[in-house]
Amino acid sequence: MTEQNSFKALSAPKGVPDYVPPASATFIRVRDEFAHQARQAGYQHIELPVFEDTTLFARGVGESTDVVSKEMYTFADRGDRSVTLRPEGTAGVMRAVIEHNLDRGYLPVKLNYYGPFFRYERPQAGRYRQLQQVGVEAIGVDDPYLDAEVIALADRCYRAVGLTGFRLELTSLGCRECRPAYREKLQSFLFALPLDEETRHRAEINPLRVLDDKREDVRAMMADAPLMLDHLCEGCRTHFEAVTGMLDNMGVEYVINPRMVRGLDYYTKTTFEFVHDGLGAQSGIGGGGRYDGLMAQIGGQDLSGIGFGLGVDRTVLALEAEGVVLEGVERRVDVFGVGIGEKAQERMALLINELRASGISTDMAYGGRGLKGAMKGADRAGAKFALVLGDRELEAGEVTVKNLADHSQVTVALNAEAVAAAVQA
Ligand code: HAM
Repeated sequence: MTEQNSFKALSAPKGVPDYVPPASATFIRVRDEFAHQARQAGYQHIELPVFEDTTLFARGVGESTDVVSKEMYTFADRGDRSVTLRPEGTAGVMRAVIEHNLDRGYLPVKLNYYGPFFRYERPQAGRYRQLQQVGVEAIGVDDPYLDAEVIALADRCYRAVGLTGFRLELTSLGCRECRPAYREKLQSFLFALPLDEETRHRAEINPLRVLDDKREDVRAMMADAPLMLDHLCEGCRTHFEAVTGMLDNMGVEYVINPRMVRGLDYYTKTTFEFVHDGLGAQSGIGGGGRYDGLMAQIGGQDLSGIGFGLGVDRTVLALEAEGVVLEGVERRVDVFGVGIGEKAQERMALLINELRASGISTDMAYGGRGLKGAMKGADRAGAKFALVLGDRELEAGEVTVKNLADHSQVTVALNAEAVAAAVQA
């Protein structure tokens, strides 16, 4: 008699995706390709805690943002300290750079990170409560060519995984010199409009956000709103021109979006977003920008920095939307061993162990399957080669190497060197 499980099956928390095989292969490939591209541009990996003191995000990301005021996973730990699951990566990188004095060495400090971030958002397609990003931060130098590097790197990341249907939107959000005056100008414009209570309140605490309002009537009223890009100081204007000029020279296409509003408060000067039209409402596949005051805000030197966060989940969805299948993702191993009979299986277990040691990805059919069932395993694994070993081969000290793509086969000596040579030929 089998015992009945009386527990109800559990599911993952709301809004949190699982990546199970085979889809997980695409997820890993995207994440690793992004990180590879970052390393290729001189960024070094930084591994950061998944939770931090709540103060870090309140100070770093900004109290007036939705991310901090509504979306943080904040709780008291058992020692009654308020901690928060990181909603983004930039503030944590800054904290670590200051704490480990990386900003006292050669500048810019160029760092790369990836992993999960947590935001209590309303879940929907492409909007998760646990989201995955690959990010970079280049800290300590305010050079427009560094802005261009970071943007071109993000563009290359997407292209490297075969994504094409995206566009890069770019603007400048000004600096501490020109932004306050612009903010006042925008506020006087907004306060003269017949805005509802909530929007007026938003205009008071974060007027830039009103520029991004999706409602038709508000959008109509905002048509003549003053734009930051028309009110940049001389320094910000030349900086922005140098960035766009360099992107032109690099052949990185972009559109200027002077109404861009980012969900985090720390941005200054160059700010950008990558948008994909195949994703519905959650179209932002990545974004970033320069942040002048952030380091000082967290208690460090007053150094500038620039970086991006690329959404891995949304990139995977965008690839699906474009029908892009990454080369080889369906391949679990290159070589699959099929031993028919007890003795052959024992020998096969040894052989595949040796093949793995020589760097060939290998698996085998377990559980005493017959030829047909075992070959199905080779097929499921997406293997390029099956190694077939029956009593006859075993006696002759040979193994048959079947090429599963072109159905050719060769018989080679029953040892790892000979098999390796056959599958690598
Ligand atoms: P962010 O724009 O908030 O920027 O997030 C970057 C990317 O993460 C988004 O473009 C999106 O693809 C993805 N993402 C954000 N929220 C979700 C969600 N709920 N579900 C799925 N994907 C999501 C930052 O986080 C900045 N720290 C980026 C940065 C680095 N800026 C400068 N340095």
